[in-house]
Amino acid sequence: MALQVLVFIVHVISLVRGQVSYSIPEEMPKGSVVGNIAQDLGLDLKRLKSGNGRIYTGDSATYIELNKERGVLLVKERIDREAICKQITPCALHLQIILEDPIELYSVNVEITDINDNAPVFKTNEMKFEIIESLLIGARFDLERAIDNDVGVNGLQSYLLNPTDNFALKSSGKSSKNVEMVLQKSLDREKQPQIALTLSAMDGGDPQMTGTMQILITVLDANDNAPICSQSLYKASVEENSPKGTVLATVRASDADEGLHGLIQYSIANAVDGASELFEINDHNGVLSVSGNIDFEIMHAYEFDVRVTDHGGHSDTCKVIIDIIDNNDNKPVINIMSKSKEISENSKLGTVIAAINVQDADSGDNGNIRCSLLDADLPFTLRSESNSFFSLVTDNEIDRERQSEYNVTVLCSDEGVPSLSSSVTLSLMISDVNDNAPEFEKSAYEAAIVENNKPGLSIFAVKATDADWKQNARISYMLEDSMINGVSVSSFVSVSADSGVIHAVRSFDFEQLKDFNFRVKAQDGGSPPLSSNVSVKIIIQDQNDNAPQILYPVKTSGSLVTELVPRSADVGYLVTKVVAVDVDSGQNAWLSYKLQKGTDRALFDVGAQNGEIRTIRQVTDKDAVKQKLAVVVEDNGQPPRSATVNVNVALADSFPEVLSEFTDFTHKEYNDNLTFYLVMALAVVSFLFIVSIIAILSVKCYRWRREQMFYKSNGNLPVIPYYPPLYADTVGTGTLQHVYNYEVCRTTDSRKSDQKYGRSCSQSIISLDPAGTLPHAQKGVASADFDEQVRKP
Ligand SMILES: *[C@@H]1O[C@H](CO)[C@@H](O)[C@H](O)[C@H]1NC(C)=O
Ligand SMILES: *[C@@H]1O[C@H](CO)[C@@H](O)[C@H](O)[C@H]1NC(C)=O
Repeated sequence: MALQVLVFIVHVISLVRGQVSYSIPEEMPKGSVVGNIAQDLGLDLKRLKSGNGRIYTGDSATYIELNKERGVLLVKERIDREAICKQITPCALHLQIILEDPIELYSVNVEITDINDNAPVFKTNEMKFEIIESLLIGARFDLERAIDNDVGVNGLQSYLLNPTDNFALKSSGKSSKNVEMVLQKSLDREKQPQIALTLSAMDGGDPQMTGTMQILITVLDANDNAPICSQSLYKASVEENSPKGTVLATVRASDADEGLHGLIQYSIANAVDGASELFEINDHNGVLSVSGNIDFEIMHAYEFDVRVTDHGGHSDTCKVIIDIIDNNDNKPVINIMSKSKEISENSKLGTVIAAINVQDADSGDNGNIRCSLLDADLPFTLRSESNSFFSLVTDNEIDRERQSEYNVTVLCSDEGVPSLSSSVTLSLMISDVNDNAPEFEKSAYEAAIVENNKPGLSIFAVKATDADWKQNARISYMLEDSMINGVSVSSFVSVSADSGVIHAVRSFDFEQLKDFNFRVKAQDGGSPPLSSNVSVKIIIQDQNDNAPQILYPVKTSGSLVTELVPRSADVGYLVTKVVAVDVDSGQNAWLSYKLQKGTDRALFDVGAQNGEIRTIRQVTDKDAVKQKLAVVVEDNGQPPRSATVNVNVALADSFPEVLSEFTDFTHKEYNDNLTFYLVMALAVVSFLFIVSIIAILSVKCYRWRREQMFYKSNGNLPVIPYYPPLYADTVGTGTLQHVYNYEVCRTTDSRKSDQKYGRSCSQSIISLDPAGTLPHAQKGVASADFDEQVRKP
């Protein structure tokens, strides 16, 4: 500084005479010496004092004062060049130094030189810009200029922009009025939405001074970025039948832009196979969801694109693959391809009843089907022919008689969880085969019928059942042909073919036939027919239909047997024995004897059981020669039947006596032709006598034979029928049977009409008259036959 001042001083001196010029820099401290005026003007210090030298500035402020003692000019006040001269250069203070005594005027010019005391200054310290990022390079922006009050080299010299990534400063130095910045590199809001720059203004002083200003740039968005999917492929899976609204995935996309430029809209694109009906995407948030009925059975997977678009038209697409997961939503479907309505009960095992096809639209386990029969006990089984074909076959015996109809339920279920199933019921009829024979309800039948029935009377019914059906169970009854006593059974009984009722064909006679057996066959209507038979026994019950028959004394027409009783006979003398028989049996054949009337009832009596006529008192001379007795024989049936026999007894010691008496008898009865009848009577008596002799001999002979037989069999002969002791004859005393047996022969022999049946007694069986009109005599033979039969064992 001192050096500078010195230079100025030298300069002033050299230029001005009578006039002094000084040059001082501004802003010198107070009291600083501007110049030695006394010396420069050649004035004496005394003159200055005496002349009362002073400085005159007129109205101007006095920055400088005169020091008279020293004769120098001093800085009185701060001198600011900028305040005094603004930008005018050079800047000088014009002073007048006035001296008095004499008045002298001296001009003093004090030039104020600039020092760099002002920095460049911006009016505002901040500028704001909003610039769209898409702005083209080369765009200009006018900037505020800075102001530096200093002049010259101390004035504003240059600007500086920092940083200069995007913008460059374009200014033409000092001369340029404008300061501009130029876009030299594209802006990118997405990288740098705000840019801060500093503009510096610099002067040329030393030291240099600067002023700064902030430039704030807000980068406005341009739609310069396309939205971008965050994944190029989205995969999702969804179960079929998922409800609408089920979220599958969220497609995400980003757009670096902001605002509408960054607002992304999602949409489904390139959808085929109806995917656009099944899926929807929320256009704002990209949530992909179900919007329709998804059926795995239609499509197993869908593929489509999602397009993301911003509001400026930029877009991107990403691929979406949605796999559909099968759900077990389809029941197995059972189709019956063919079936039999009916099978025969004798069908072979393995007979196919139905062919079945089963399908399930699901896949995997959901479509794996298993079929079975609902009722495992049925005689059928399901045979798997292939994956989806089954046949229903018989696997056990089928018996229509056990079950004639089956409802076979086939149940098919898949292996899904939970499993779905469906079933079908086949009804199957079992047709009948004639495999059951009729069966009688009893293993044997026995029935009784009272003799003397009406022909055609129904006795009872046999019944058979057949487990088969209809025709195979239609039973016909028939007689098995057999012979009863040499006669076909059909002449005894008949069977009603439909009802099994057994009818008597004829009237039965217990005395001929006590029972008989035959077989009835039941036959069904099958082809071939099956049959079974059962034995039937018919027992004929006795009725008191026969009166006792008097065998002795024999009643012959017109003549009478006369028993001789010696007058000397003792009491109890056996006059004779009335022999009677009753072909009935049991009670009906129990006979009792009674004296009905007699010439002298006190003389004779009849044994009630044995029919023996005995004297019950001594015969006296007063008793008449001829005595007439009537003996009645009665059986025990209900009602009883009886027979009466007249017995003539002669009380005489000799035959002539008797004869005369009997002549009397006949004389009385037959008055006419007396002689003729007498001769006839004699002949008859003689004949009867001979007959009696033969009869007695025969009886004797028979008894002898019986006794021989009795001894041989040790007396163990059963005596049937049973007679109560009162009525029974013992074997030894001559039973009724013996006499009867004998008498049968005799009787049959004596009846002329029955001669064709006459057989010897030893022949026990005779053929029966088919017409059923046998006379009593022959019934007797049949009875005898019975007697023989029971003795055979
Ligand atoms: C079979 O089904 C039919 C009809 O549903 C029924 O009338 C019949 O009684 C059933 N049969 C058997 C043996 O269950
Ligand atoms: C009667 O049935 C039996 C079996 O019960 C049989 O042995 C017999 O041959 C049958 N008789 C006739 C004549 O059919």
